[in-house]
Amino acid sequence: MKTLNKIMLSMALASATATAAIQADNESWQQQFPTQYQSWKTTSEKSEIVDVIAEDPNLAVLWAGYSFAKEYNKARGHYYALTDVTQILRTGAPKSDSDGPQPAACWSCKSPDVPRMYQQVGESNFNKEAWAKWGAEMSNNIGCADCHAAGSADQVMTRPYAERAMEKVGLPFAEQDAEMQAAQTCGQCHVEYFFDKQDSQNVRFPWEHGFTGEGAEKFYDSIGYSDWTHQISKAPMLKAQHPEFETWSTSMHADMGVTCITCHMPKKTNAAGQEYSDHNVGNAFAAFDSVCADCHDSKEEMAQLIESNKHAVNDAKLAAEAVIVRAHFEAKAAWDAGANADEMAPALQLIRKAQWRWDFAIASHGIHVHNPSEALRLLADAKAMGLQAQVALANVLTKYAVAQPVALPDLSTKAAAQKAVGLDIEKDRADKQQFLKEVVEKQWGMELH
Ligand code: HEC
Ligand code: HEC
Ligand code: HEC
Ligand code: HEC
Repeated sequence: MKTLNKIMLSMALASATATAAIQADNESWQQQFPTQYQSWKTTSEKSEIVDVIAEDPNLAVLWAGYSFAKEYNKARGHYYALTDVTQILRTGAPKSDSDGPQPAACWSCKSPDVPRMYQQVGESNFNKEAWAKWGAEMSNNIGCADCHAAGSADQVMTRPYAERAMEKVGLPFAEQDAEMQAAQTCGQCHVEYFFDKQDSQNVRFPWEHGFTGEGAEKFYDSIGYSDWTHQISKAPMLKAQHPEFETWSTSMHADMGVTCITCHMPKKTNAAGQEYSDHNVGNAFAAFDSVCADCHDSKEEMAQLIESNKHAVNDAKLAAEAVIVRAHFEAKAAWDAGANADEMAPALQLIRKAQWRWDFAIASHGIHVHNPSEALRLLADAKAMGLQAQVALANVLTKYAVAQPVALPDLSTKAAAQKAVGLDIEKDRADKQQFLKEVVEKQWGMELH
């Protein structure tokens, strides 16, 4: 009887979400919830664009042949989501609604206009189009209707693909407690995903074998999936997105019930003395005294610990990169000397595995706080597997009498590394400028920040 009630309740909830109109316009929430609106708006304060490939030119090599090698910046505040996906070279310069390179699913985590359009045209009909098709519909940055039902303070999931994924791994939204539901609102976007070509390019999370990097890899291997073929080594590669929900799920904080919301949306009191949740999600450490201090002693010591974790993760990252970058070029040298696909296969599989572990760790932003030991474990494995790839490649190189060590091109700057992998960034930039002027400004009417 209890189960039946639960099922009927969740059916009622599901149909309520399906039929209630999505209140996508962020401004329209201001009058009803001024305090939350004001704190949400301050996500605009984190406005700096940090060019990560300029900081670490290895990235251009590791992602060679994939659009990430063109441009990759640190995350900015939620307020900039539409601007950033539109400006980045990865989305190219489509000239018409049906022009590529990206599918519509690239809007998925950028705007409450996405659930609004799902409601209007259907999720699959939305996703089967090219990215440019919906530009004119996108005008609100990540906001209220991404996490709340119209006019309501209750949290909801607005991405049906995320709801399906949570359900599949035994975390159906309707049956979670309030804390987990709140974290699941973040888990709609801060996750690893891919676009399922078997299913109208709908968004899918690879969670069937658990939340670890290895679990996701097992899933991708089981369906023979790769994101791209590496331009230098020809290895079948995977690109990690931003598995924050996953690396948090396997952390000590998650075990203790400390969620994204505990740290990123702490309770505050407004001028009228009312308690509210700070909606500036980018300020987690600022709330040390009211949040972290329940369990951790000193703010200064914690700041130092976070800094030293950051350094340790960065060192392990660079150590893994040095090995994997070299392996890509050694594979190229082996191909160039005449090695065949059978001889190359074991090394290419090891490169895929090594780079996946590296990427899963470093694409998980904030991992030096969320789960530093998991980052170090993954990065150590990445390096070890990269070294195994090098051993396998050394045998092939020796067989084909290639002089070793194989020489690497100049990778000392972003420009040098991008040139080494054959990118013409100046042309991409010029095309993008024209796209921003002719299409985004004139046809879409999108406001860029
Ligand atoms: C990324 C998801 C997300 C976005 C975007 C978001 N909220 Fe929230 N909101 C939450 C969560 C999660 C809570 C509950 C926090 C808790 O229970 O500790 C919450 C709580 C609230 C509450 C309950 C009172 C409070 O402050 O705790 C109100 C009202 C509210 N939000 C309004 C808004 C408005 C208005 C916007 C847009 C300007 C907005 N929210 C944007 C996730 C979001
Ligand atoms: C124990 C508290 C805590 C929990 C739990 C937590 N975070 Fe964080 N998170 C932080 C802190 C602190 C930082 C800032 C690290 C820094 O500045 O070096 C951060 C950083 C981040 C960043 C990177 C910000 C940037 O500027 O690159 C993202 C994204 C993020 N967290 C999302 C999440 C999500 C999503 C969850 C839940 C799945 C979560 N966090 C859980 C404390 C937490
Ligand atoms: C609709 C998708 C979506 C949801 C829901 C979402 N995020 Fe984000 N988040 C993003 C995107 C996209 C960016 C990067 C924006 C950019 O760089 O333009 C981002 C950036 C961030 C950052 C880094 C920027 C900063 O301000 O420091 C943090 C931290 C963060 N999100 C935390 C959270 C937390 C916590 C939640 C849940 C309460 C959440 N996000 C919910 C999509 C989302
Ligand atoms: C409910 C208790 C609790 C709260 C609240 C909490 N933490 Fe933790 N945190 C822990 C526990 C327990 C550990 C694991 C300790 C260990 O492994 O030694 C941990 C571990 C950490 C670590 C990893 C230490 C390492 O190097 O392995 C960092 C960083 C951290 N917390 C930061 C924060 C920050 C920042 C906040 C506030 C935004 C916060 N924590 C809030 C309980 C908490």
